[in-house]
Amino acid sequence: MTTRILTGITTTGTPHLGNYAGAIRPAIVASRQSDADSFYFLADYHALIKCDDPLRIQRSRLEIAATWLAAGLDVDRVTFYRQSDIPEITELTWLLTCVAAKGLLNRAHAYKASVDKNVETGEDPDAGVTMGLYSYPVLMAADILMFNAHQVPVGRDQIQHVEMARDIGQRFNHLFGKGREFFVMPEALIEESVATLPGLDGRKMSKSYDNTIPLFSSAKDMKDAISRIVTDSKAPGEAKDPDNSHLFTLYQAFATPEQIAEFRSDLLQGLGWGEAKSRLFTLLDSELGEARENYHRLIERPADLEDILLAGAEKARKVATPFLGELREAVGLRSFRSNVQVAETGKKKVAKGARFVSFREDDGSFRFRLLAADGEQLLLSRNFADGKAAGAVSKQLQQGSEFELRPEHFGFTLWINGEHIAESPQFVDAAARDAAIESLKLALAPQQD
Ligand code: TRP
Repeated sequence: MTTRILTGITTTGTPHLGNYAGAIRPAIVASRQSDADSFYFLADYHALIKCDDPLRIQRSRLEIAATWLAAGLDVDRVTFYRQSDIPEITELTWLLTCVAAKGLLNRAHAYKASVDKNVETGEDPDAGVTMGLYSYPVLMAADILMFNAHQVPVGRDQIQHVEMARDIGQRFNHLFGKGREFFVMPEALIEESVATLPGLDGRKMSKSYDNTIPLFSSAKDMKDAISRIVTDSKAPGEAKDPDNSHLFTLYQAFATPEQIAEFRSDLLQGLGWGEAKSRLFTLLDSELGEARENYHRLIERPADLEDILLAGAEKARKVATPFLGELREAVGLRSFRSNVQVAETGKKKVAKGARFVSFREDDGSFRFRLLAADGEQLLLSRNFADGKAAGAVSKQLQQGSEFELRPEHFGFTLWINGEHIAESPQFVDAAARDAAIESLKLALAPQQD
């Protein structure tokens, strides 16, 4: 079985080294496994929650798209798209919003942090809290559940959101699945060794601490940032403690075991911090130099990036559109044309009095319905070019000619001599479908009397 891996990256900033090591690189490595079916996307709807600067949103989407591609994402292997190109995601967000418990969302860390801060400063608890922030986990659940991801690579701060996606998905399954598990239960996937890189000051590398090392801007920017890494004040020649050095932690995230062992031993033997920084730069530059060049090539061709992302969206919607159709059906947003009374799943007394009714479509074609005595629709035919053709086929059925019924999902189709003639509505479950098949056979059986 293939494993579906899905992750999103919020488009508010420019990816830095921490994003690369913590999210981008492991995601790309995972996407190369033969049993992986990866979905990666720009979480630009999430970006709107945090940022009301359109230029920054747009710039960031472009930079993040280019970063992932430059870092080696192969769009033929994976599905790479912008969240905002998939309208099914917002629609699913609403379906999930209607089953998500408010109490669950009250516990979301990001929302709680805002409330706590307000309370601390004597503000109204909800000051500055938008519904977007409050519903953030529901949107994220829709991202994940829309594609039935098994694994969701994320930073530690996002584990709670993945758990909420499970909760919400489970509740939907329970309410509407009728024994069917619409949604797979996703797991958060944390790459233990490098999940969070330390920044220049040793705290988690994060834009909000202004302690990041840039990824692809330029070699010089990277070198400048590295020169600002905070170390202790031990002089060259004095033994350094690698395990208490975030410079060493950064090195470890990119080096081979041999390089790590050598660096450790050199630090213990008194390698100067200046030299240590220059070794870190050399390592990062050799790991990332080529990707940096790719990045700048891509950024200069935004129209190409647009094409790549639109093709990705099309691929994603091949999954999302039919699946959302099933979910709409499940909650009761059904076409009037094909709807059946859902309450009765038992045997239906239709044998006598079933009737064919033909009608004309707006496009001039003809179709017929087979209605049970109580008016319930048993079959809807395909379109026929003219009324005569439609009439001939319904007559064949009335006169007891042979036909074949093929179950399809919770409905079935009717075939005569290998030709698709008509289809049933979708029923609530397989049992209701099978009962309807029996009723139909009875209704169309040659009359004995
Ligand atoms: N909230 C995530 C973050 O800030 C980004 C994200 C949005 C995401 N939707 C997702 C991650 C779905 C994984 C799956 O990092």
